Amino acid sequence: MRRSNRLAHLALAWVLTLSAFAGAQAEVPDGFDPELWREGYRVFTEIGGMGCAGCHGRYGANELGVGPVIRGVDAVRIEGAVAGMQAMVFLQALITPAEIDAVAHYLAYLGTMEPAVVTMRRGEFEPAEVTLPAGAPVQLILNNQDRGDCTWSVTAEGVDPVVVGSRTIGAVDWTTAAAGTLEAFCAEAPDGRLTVVLE
Ligand code: HEC
Repeated sequence: MRRSNRLAHLALAWVLTLSAFAGAQAEVPDGFDPELWREGYRVFTEIGGMGCAGCHGRYGANELGVGPVIRGVDAVRIEGAVAGMQAMVFLQALITPAEIDAVAHYLAYLGTMEPAVVTMRRGEFEPAEVTLPAGAPVQLILNNQDRGDCTWSVTAEGVDPVVVGSRTIGAVDWTTAAAGTLEAFCAEAPDGRLTVVLE
């Protein structure tokens, strides 16, 4: 069950991420290369059996509280970290320069979206309010610590809900409109509301 949830989530994240590019949005990094992006995603989620995601979080936003936020870091910084960070030296013998370039491409893509991370616990959001930039690409990341799935929804036009399985992490991505206040919630627990301030 857990495994199929995880796979379903991955598949969904994949579709969402790819569909984000279908619209040829202005925020796509210069020189965006779908092949390199795919390879970077593979490295990010799989290298060394845990991926960079195993410590830095699936969204590279320190969701797990282990590795710091690495969205937008370049290849030089990754090389430096692999060579110098004690937690990461095991990667030195595993990762190739081509894989470093690919994962940097993937991180450049994540770096185009401003992240906010919230946790859902016993039907409540922690924190209960986040602030994101108005008129910019954002990624609202949910760490679902509850026993049930969360259909993660935002009260904004054109934002498709994403199912975040129990004890997994998922995200909705969109480009915010003008300044104002939105709400995000799990359809299964509508009493718990997250206030999203755009400014
Ligand atoms: C086993 C856990 C672990 C894995 C796997 C891991 N990291 Fe790290 N990473 C860390 C920790 C912990 C730090 C912070 C170390 C410190 O500050 O002392 C770090 C630091 C970094 C930094 C430096 C941050 C900065 O501000 O310059 C970068 C860049 C980085 N990691 C990228 C990656 C990439 C890319 C991968 C995958 C190829 C990866 N890490 C895999 C744990 C990990």
